[in-house]
Amino acid sequence: MGFIIAIDGPAAAGKGTLSRQIAEEYGFHHLDTGLTYRATAKALLDAGLALDDEAVAGKIAREVELAGLDRDILSAHAIGEAASKIAVMPKVRRALVEAQQAFSKREPGTVLDGRDIGTVVCPDAPVKLYVTASPEVRARRRHDEIIGKGGEASYDEIFADVKKRDARDMGRADSPLKPAEDAHLLDTSEMSIEAAFQAAKSFIDAALKKN
Ligand code: CDP
Repeated sequence: MGFIIAIDGPAAAGKGTLSRQIAEEYGFHHLDTGLTYRATAKALLDAGLALDDEAVAGKIAREVELAGLDRDILSAHAIGEAASKIAVMPKVRRALVEAQQAFSKREPGTVLDGRDIGTVVCPDAPVKLYVTASPEVRARRRHDEIIGKGGEASYDEIFADVKKRDARDMGRADSPLKPAEDAHLLDTSEMSIEAAFQAAKSFIDAALKKN
């Protein structure tokens, strides 16, 4: 089994960028587990299926292929909303968590990012990071990202959305978003991407030495 780095945190905390940088630095495979929820949601939406039928959503989740996940195709706001709705369903979570756990065993190592990696998917991971930032900073980043890509966005709407998504992710009964007891907390509110990367690297290098 490879070396596992588990990265969790709320929407727009900077997990994605950090996870990709870490995977590249160590030559590890990376899985953005949010995409597995998004792909399930998109398949339901595309097929015109209801988002509140757990048996159907669970079956669709079992058919998701990890190899074809693409954030550009899955980035639509409506898909993110639908993803966070079906992510409360235990049958959906069980199916996707099994696929994520199989991925996590790849050699020489893996980086998985999501909401429940350190707590549920890979509770024995030797490195767990919980990446967070204030809701204001996260809304600002999401806003600037959309504007940067030439889109239109209202800060107030995005801020309301970030709060709503946090409440749904932290408040659900199955696998709520929370730091694992042994996670290193990384608050990126006032940290550059490079500073967050260096902080993460020091935790990972220390764990690799012990391994
Ligand atoms: O990019 P963004 O922060 O909007 O979210 P994402 O990582 O793409 O995940 C979309 C939704 O999937 C989240 O709001 C969560 O509800 C859910 N999710 C989850 O429940 N567990 C994970 N390991 C990853 C995502």
